[in-house]
Amino acid sequence: MGNSSARITFHDLLPPPHNMLGEVLAGLAQPQKTLPPKYFYDARGCELFEAICNLPEYYPTRTELAIMRLHAGAMADLLGPDSALIEIGCGNSEKTRLLLEASQPAVFVAIDIAREQLEASCHALAQTFQEMAIIALRADFAQPVALPVAALGLAGRRILYFPGSTIGNFTPAEARAFLARWAPLLGAGGGALIGIDLKKDAVRLNAAYNDARGVTAEFNLNLLHHINRVLEADFDPAAFRHHAFYRAGHGRIEMHLVSLRAQRVTISGHGFELREGETIHTENSCKYGIAEFQDLGRAAGFEPVQCWTDSANLFAVHYLTLPQ
Ligand code: AVJ
Repeated sequence: MGNSSARITFHDLLPPPHNMLGEVLAGLAQPQKTLPPKYFYDARGCELFEAICNLPEYYPTRTELAIMRLHAGAMADLLGPDSALIEIGCGNSEKTRLLLEASQPAVFVAIDIAREQLEASCHALAQTFQEMAIIALRADFAQPVALPVAALGLAGRRILYFPGSTIGNFTPAEARAFLARWAPLLGAGGGALIGIDLKKDAVRLNAAYNDARGVTAEFNLNLLHHINRVLEADFDPAAFRHHAFYRAGHGRIEMHLVSLRAQRVTISGHGFELREGETIHTENSCKYGIAEFQDLGRAAGFEPVQCWTDSANLFAVHYLTLPQ
């Protein structure tokens, strides 16, 4: 990668794999079995998610990108110069590029759990943004992140960039706690730019998570392949079916894996049973109204400043700040 890698500092903050086993076993020990959605993203899962982003039914990615194309300049005006921009979940870097071009931060911090994805996107960004320092943190962003504050140097305001409606993986209470935890890391005058999938009719939402080509189903089932490989488990993915539906009362899409028969699975020597029709809940994808998300931000100590949406009101990008 030549000179470009000289400006990239890499920190691996991921806990050792035995935590994955602990989390997986704890999730499967609950009455409603669950698995953490962060384990979708092995190399194959990242590939499948990219394919999801290009599906005709999956509107969020292209809608958010269109919002960024139109408004990255206005966002940059609010962010101000010489900021430290901290991005969580650096999947598709197209939106990031638009924001970096417009706002020219002094430091860019990328936080992701997927190491290869993280390194590849940081190296690619370093080629284009030659003046910018880059800090890559491999971390589980749901856990409090030990921000290498010294490495932020003389950068000005710290801005959290959380695109893609990934915050929707948290319940509203978890999202509020997450933002409240970030507030002291961002400091007085800090800001947050957050992509939110908006509440809308259930038909459209259900279609986005039940695509005709079955890519989302494959993405969901890939979680079992990932666990089989990393944790020496014997899930039979063919014995499960993808099930995703909008639960209007909770304002969220839920993804589940339905057991097609009674079966026993062993994970690193720990066995557990599934009944026929029993599900493993693999993901929440929470949707918000604009005012609803602004209220959530306030409850976490932020002040809503501005919000940009598309003409069909599918998606919103919120800018919130912390008081000086
Ligand atoms: C990456 C969490 C934003 O919730 O829409 C896409 C993940 N799951 N299709 C979402 C996902 C199924 C996605 N996020």
